[in-house]
Amino acid sequence: MRLKNKVALVTGGGSGIGREISMLFAKEGAYVGINDIVSESIEKTIQDMGELGSQALALSADVSDSSQVQKMFANLIAKYGTIDILVNNAGIGEVSNNKETSLNQVMEAQLGEMFQGKIKTHWAVTENLSDADWDKMLRVHLYGTFYCTREALKIMSKKNYGRIINMASVAATLGLETSPHYSAAKAGILGLTRAVSREVGSRSITVNAIAPGLIETPMTDVISPMVKQAWVMGTPIKRAGKPYEVATAALFLASDESSFFTGQILSPSGGSWMP
Ligand SMILES: NC(=O)c1ccc[n+]([C@@H]2O[C@H](COP(=O)([O-])OP(=O)(O)OC[C@H]3O[C@@H](n4cnc5c(N)ncnc54)[C@H](O)[C@@H]3O)[C@@H](O)[C@H]2O)c1
Repeated sequence: MRLKNKVALVTGGGSGIGREISMLFAKEGAYVGINDIVSESIEKTIQDMGELGSQALALSADVSDSSQVQKMFANLIAKYGTIDILVNNAGIGEVSNNKETSLNQVMEAQLGEMFQGKIKTHWAVTENLSDADWDKMLRVHLYGTFYCTREALKIMSKKNYGRIINMASVAATLGLETSPHYSAAKAGILGLTRAVSREVGSRSITVNAIAPGLIETPMTDVISPMVKQAWVMGTPIKRAGKPYEVATAALFLASDESSFFTGQILSPSGGSWMP
């Protein structure tokens, strides 16, 4: 077992990638605090873990709210006494209703027009992005990552050990024309990863990022098959990834095998982004 008796906290563990990471960490011997804003989804994850569910603690909280994050850490510490591994994974795709549909429509129209040699349909995402949508995206991803990292470091820096894993995206490195706010939030996470990795490296705390490409989860269910196909065409391994293929990257970064990696980006993306 690669995480025997380690204490981990996985945010957004009620669905998709976070759910898979929570399950894999428990299989590898860790005690796992599973966070999500949707408490029923945490219960479902724990139920599906079977016997391993006894190694899990449900921690319902909104990571974009610093007071809820503080209480969540207090509950984790009350139960397990410490934290060794933090996975900042909670996230949202689009924040406005129907936006997915309109983005799919624009992209599908462009793909059709490409074959006729002239693109007439254009993106108008940034000019129509509201303050509220911009704010929410940055709050969940970037502020949430900061709030949880701040609490984790209060404990990790006292014991000179820790593993912090931040879920970024190829959106951070490529830039997604459909999601300037998402791309900016994820790029911010990469900046935070590098800065904090320098700050705490001498205390044997490592801070790394994972930048997945297209992964089959509820978040990407809203993308139309044609748009997914277009993405897959630009991916050297010609398919979307599975949550497990991201969880194994998280396991490596959480384990002692990654002890000389810090400030790095691992990209389970089928090669859709290459450093
Ligand atoms: N699926 C992909 O293709 C893909 C690609 C690159 C990066 N990512 C990133 O991976 C992470 C997980 O995404 P996923 O695809 O598994 O999505 P998902 O929607 O399946 O899971 C995200 C989870 O985060 C939870 N969450 C949302 N806001 C929260 C908040 N404020 N506080 C606590 N929990 C909250 C949701 O309830 C959900 O359970 C996200 O950070 C996402 O941006 C996903």
